[in-house]
Amino acid sequence: MSPAPREKPVWVPPGGPGGVERPSPVIFEVLGEEGVFELLADVYRRFDGTPIRHLFPPDLLAASERSAAFFVQLLGGPPLFNERHGPPRMRARHIPFEIDERARSVWLDCFEGAVEASAAAGVFPREEVAGFVAFLRGFSAWMVNVAPETDGV
Ligand code: HEM
Repeated sequence: MSPAPREKPVWVPPGGPGGVERPSPVIFEVLGEEGVFELLADVYRRFDGTPIRHLFPPDLLAASERSAAFFVQLLGGPPLFNERHGPPRMRARHIPFEIDERARSVWLDCFEGAVEASAAAGVFPREEVAGFVAFLRGFSAWMVNVAPETDGV
């Protein structure tokens, strides 16, 4: 499915990609490939009913699998994303979608909620939550492509 054409100009965060620290390899050692796919399935389930739902295709589970492939390789697992979808180029891949700070904040709430629920269930290693969340907050800033002053206009 193709997204609706952009209405707002592409904005580049002035700080650039920033020096985001890669998440700890312990996370993948504990979760494994299946655990990462389960985590991302929960993240994407949480998008349902939020103000960012319309950005995603109807099949959220299929969409979550593309993200999961990326997180598997980011966390030190096999290069699933490159094998299935080519080079990540994450900011470029997000440009067709208008992502402002509010969208980022909803995205982060869903992701952090899923990580917290997984840690509470004894799956996601508790001592790695803070570092992983710091990665998500830092990296997601680079996905924002709508200028703050045009938010909500
Ligand atoms: C800032 C908040 C973010 C929003 C609102 C957002 C939104 C989106 C949307 C709308 C898509 C396309 C869905 C589809 O067609 O399947 C997407 C794809 C994706 N996003 Fe994000 N995203 C955000 C941040 C991130 C971050 C920080 C990462 C990685 C750390 C990430 C990883 C991915 C991946 C791997 C895909 C799949 C790309 C593909 O299918 O080729 N996103 N995201």
